[in-house]
Amino acid sequence: MRPMHIAFLVTYLLLTLGVCNGAKLHLQKIKGCPRVKTIVRDIIWDKVRNDTTLAAKLLRLHYHDCFVRGCDGSILLDSNGGNATEKDARPNSSIAGYEIIDEVKAKLEQECPGLVSCADILALAARDAVSFQFGKSMWPVFLGRKDGRVSLASEANRDIPSAGSNFTTLQQQFASQGLNLVDLVALSGAHTIGVGRCVVFQRRLFNFTGNGDTDPSLDPDYAKFLKEKCSPPANPAATRVGMDPNSTLSFDGHYFVALNKHQGLFQSDAALLTNPRSKLFTRLFENDLHFFRQFGRSMIKMGAIGVITGKNGEIRKNCRAVN
Ligand code: HEM
Ligand SMILES: *[C@@H]1O[C@H](CO)[C@@H](O)[C@H](O)[C@H]1NC(C)=O
Ligand SMILES: *[C@@H]1O[C@H](CO)[C@@H](O)[C@H](O)[C@H]1NC(C)=O
Ligand SMILES: *[C@@H]1O[C@H](CO)[C@@H](O)[C@H](O)[C@H]1NC(C)=O
Ligand SMILES: *[C@@H]1O[C@H](CO)[C@@H](O)[C@H](O)[C@H]1NC(C)=O
Ligand SMILES: *[C@@H]1O[C@H](CO)[C@@H](O)[C@H](O)[C@H]1NC(C)=O
Ligand SMILES: *[C@@H]1O[C@H](CO)[C@@H](O)[C@H](O)[C@H]1NC(C)=O
Repeated sequence: MRPMHIAFLVTYLLLTLGVCNGAKLHLQKIKGCPRVKTIVRDIIWDKVRNDTTLAAKLLRLHYHDCFVRGCDGSILLDSNGGNATEKDARPNSSIAGYEIIDEVKAKLEQECPGLVSCADILALAARDAVSFQFGKSMWPVFLGRKDGRVSLASEANRDIPSAGSNFTTLQQQFASQGLNLVDLVALSGAHTIGVGRCVVFQRRLFNFTGNGDTDPSLDPDYAKFLKEKCSPPANPAATRVGMDPNSTLSFDGHYFVALNKHQGLFQSDAALLTNPRSKLFTRLFENDLHFFRQFGRSMIKMGAIGVITGKNGEIRKNCRAVN
């Protein structure tokens, strides 16, 4: 480890002692809806208790919302003639959890109509879904987002990083959202829960450079395991593999342990080992406590991307359509 990198890490550890979250959104109680957080949590915890795969889906939904036009609920809009919306973009496939958001919205419209935006619901749902396992909220969620009126598939294709991205591209795409290298590494730790389809990563297994070869950076036993999963008769577009082998349902630092054993599922995961600084953080976040602390901070930052406030947005009645 070069002294420069150690200095970077030490600076990070010192900074984390402070209380600076960089979020522009202010923590708000929503006037007229004092129970909003309890209502969302109760529904989400019930749903996640019944279906353990849901936590990953709700977490990903908030991420995809925030990376395209900011956290404005645009991921939830259904296509309706005209332009295809974000839902119908390339990275959409396998996105799920929309019905749960509808259910939360319906309940909130009963309790306090017109007060809680779909964008705020997504932020709360992601937090609560991850937190269920711990029985307590893992980070504070700042409220007051308004919903946007525009959603374009082309923007999702452009702004959501693809699984084949190298480190440079990932860092640029995160930077253009105001997220730094530490956020990139911590947020990639979301892949400690959930699944990816063979179609997304099979090139790494079967045709990495176009010569029928395997990505040499993959752990050979892991590559063998993945090839068995993804070979015929498996349907690559439907077959799902846990992203954090053996720990797919547990939100913890094990993603980073696996990553450092060269068992990261996507090239974008493996890419975090190709930069000395980000590699340093993959080591640090093997420790649950370091990971949780930074993940919460980075989620607060992500949840503040491009937020619409005041009259520039609306509070949708139905999350699938503008008012
Ligand atoms: C760093 C760039 C990222 C890339 C390239 C990436 C890519 C992917 C891909 C390709 C999948 C599988 C999709 C499929 O099979 O169709 C996936 C799943 C997932 N991603 Fe990411 N992702 C990134 C960052 C994030 C972030 C920042 C979060 C959340 C904070 C996140 C949360 C998830 C979750 C929870 C799943 C599993 C979904 C499920 O099980 O249904 N990802 N990601
Ligand atoms: C529980 O989850 C299963 C899928 O795992 C789903 O079919 C069922 O409708 C869920 N029940 C409730 C009450 O949400
Ligand atoms: C379709 O997209 C274009 C920009 O690509 C935008 O100007 C137009 O308002 C969109 N139409 C609808 C119905 O959303
Ligand atoms: C994803 O987009 C395709 C069209 O590109 C559409 O047929 C499909 O229903 C979308 N999936 C979801 C879950 O919205
Ligand atoms: C990373 O990927 C981008 C886009 O595919 C490419 O232009 C660039 O040369 C790659 N950078 C490295 C260091 O491989
Ligand atoms: C492997 O990749 C090369 C180059 O992209 C392509 O021409 C070839 O058809 C691929 N082979 C298979 C089996 O997909
Ligand atoms: C999963 O667990 C099994 C048994 O404990 C172990 O042999 C295997 O290496 C693990 N797989 C991965 C990918 O870590």
